[in-house]
Amino acid sequence: MTVAALIPAAGSGTRLGRGPKAFVEVAGQSLLARSVAALAPHVGEVLVALPAGMDLPAGLRARAISGGETRQESVLRLLEATSAGIVLVHDAARPFLPAGVVGALLSAVAETGAATAALPVADTLVRGEGGQWQGAVPREGLWAVQTPQAFARGELLRAHRAACEQGYAATDDAGLIAWQGGAVTLVPGDPRLFKVTAPGDLALAHAVARLWDAGER
Ligand code: CTP
Ligand code: MG
Repeated sequence: MTVAALIPAAGSGTRLGRGPKAFVEVAGQSLLARSVAALAPHVGEVLVALPAGMDLPAGLRARAISGGETRQESVLRLLEATSAGIVLVHDAARPFLPAGVVGALLSAVAETGAATAALPVADTLVRGEGGQWQGAVPREGLWAVQTPQAFARGELLRAHRAACEQGYAATDDAGLIAWQGGAVTLVPGDPRLFKVTAPGDLALAHAVARLWDAGER
């Protein structure tokens, strides 16, 4: 079955504070360029949702469309712009994507129709209010969900259209499948797949880039 990579990259990067986040560079390469390069070898086409009015930087092996007001809207537009049977949805904001994670997701989606990269939570979890510890939350069985997420495109498109009609919002695409009662397989992700969100994450990204760009993947 044909596979397309769908990259939502239309966010404004408010928390990072450096303009549209996908265009922010780490060690000379934008977050978007890094995400495209990681996915291109595994798929038939790469589709990117960009902020309205922005163009794809030269040299990227991808096709661009305009994103929406929310991440969910951007992904819906990407889903409608491809006819691939399988889609890998991946945030541009997660620039370090090991090939092994993509391979594991493609194997899982062929079996179950929906899969996401995720990591078991290692830290102690507590509920806090006003900066005060309110009570611990058992972390047993809890996973932190990452991207990429892989789906049979038809199934994800149905979930997105239902969410659109019913005004339901999830933070990611696997969440929409789960909301529809579908099964989602958890595939081991990677700590390097962290999302560049706040300024502090850029220091971490620079550190990872040194190893990554030297071939340690
Ligand atoms: N995204 C998108 N369209 C939107 C909003 C977000 O395609 N309307 C994308 C972002 O470009 C990013 C991913 O969704 O690759 C995850 O979003 P997030 O980390 O929240 O990025 P931003 O929305 O850009 O950041 P912020 O929330 O700080 O403004
Ligand atoms: Mg956002």
